[in-house]
Amino acid sequence: MSTVLTPRIPGDKSISHRALIVGAISEGLSTVEGLLFAEDPKSTLGCLRAMGCEAEWKGSLLHIQGHGLRGFHQPTQMLDAGNSGTTIRLLSGVLAGQRFPTVISGDESLRQRPMMRIVRPLVEMGASISASDGRPPLTIQPSPDLRSITYELPIPSAQVKSAVLLAGLYAEGTTRIIEIIRTRDHTERILGLSTKLIDGTHVTAIQGGTIRHGQRFVIPGDISSAVFFVAAALLTPGAEVILRNIGINPTRMRGIDILRSVGAAIDIQPEAEHAGEPIGTIVAQYSSLAGEIRLGRSDVIGMIDEIPIVAALAAAVGISFEVRGAAELRVKESDRISAMVDNLRALGVDVEEYDDGFAFGAGKRLQGGLVRSRGDHRIAMAFGVMDLTIKRLEIDDPNCVDISFPGFWKELEQFSRLHDP
Ligand code: S3P
Repeated sequence: MSTVLTPRIPGDKSISHRALIVGAISEGLSTVEGLLFAEDPKSTLGCLRAMGCEAEWKGSLLHIQGHGLRGFHQPTQMLDAGNSGTTIRLLSGVLAGQRFPTVISGDESLRQRPMMRIVRPLVEMGASISASDGRPPLTIQPSPDLRSITYELPIPSAQVKSAVLLAGLYAEGTTRIIEIIRTRDHTERILGLSTKLIDGTHVTAIQGGTIRHGQRFVIPGDISSAVFFVAAALLTPGAEVILRNIGINPTRMRGIDILRSVGAAIDIQPEAEHAGEPIGTIVAQYSSLAGEIRLGRSDVIGMIDEIPIVAALAAAVGISFEVRGAAELRVKESDRISAMVDNLRALGVDVEEYDDGFAFGAGKRLQGGLVRSRGDHRIAMAFGVMDLTIKRLEIDDPNCVDISFPGFWKELEQFSRLHDP
């Protein structure tokens, strides 16, 4: 007999940011149900409010009064994107099309993150943007007539794609994005854009000046948060986890496929679709994992945020793990390659570090110790789950989980109790 656990999974972070931004640039009232009310989307909401966007809570629904593409006013201060790369990069696309200049920055971690990836295409469209050595703060001088461009993504990044697509709403004509490998497509879905496969590439077009009307957004649970409890169930003898209303967008499911490939019992039942996003129930059970995990560039894109937990799980159960083609991990909320390597080594794992990844062999040899999360929510949560089996880890900054998953530790306690009745 298994014990069924149903941890509460918060709303999808990527879709929450997009619902807030799209609601704010639409005409009329939008409502958002299931918004992730965590630090990152709060940063987006704070920036939008600083430009006059009216948003108020009515019960569990956020009401956003949109005033169209250029309904904002100039903020009186620098916009603060906090820890959120999605906030600064997506909003830059919108700011490039306003009638007033803005400065946008964020916390210490965000001020280390590369911004030329969005500055280059937005400048090509006609905006003037200055960055501090390629990093925030960004000073954005918009152009009254942005040009449409055709832009082939030099790095696979949904944030870059989305910045250009949003700027494309303000440009004359049709802006096109070309992707060799498809990144998460939430912006396309929320804006109702279609993507065509042309000569093996994915081409998405957006028409400048399209007026959008207020709508109801329903945000599904975040697969990137759900996966921590899928992993917790896989590690907990006798546990079964049922996670309802989770976003199961195919561009985000590679982590689940990889876990299945090493024997994880995970079942997904598709149930509904809201604003173009598929939603379903995920059921996972304690499983004895075997085999090895080898991730290459094409895997990484579909599970970029899941790599820390998949690696932590592999180390906890003692299966060999390798990820290559993942240099992007170095420029996330922390350098996630170095954060994983240093912490795993401190726990006794013999890890090889590469410029674009890391690897370790099979075998269990874990000891307790201090985990330095580097203020990175996904590093803290990955080792938190790992501690279900080690039980002797101390996470230096547990509160950093509030970036994407307030309440994470409380939900995890249910699993700890099954390990330590
Ligand atoms: C996101 C895209 C990804 C992801 C991030 C959220 C988004 O970043 O890591 O957590 O909402 O578009 P990149 O676009 O930099 O890969």
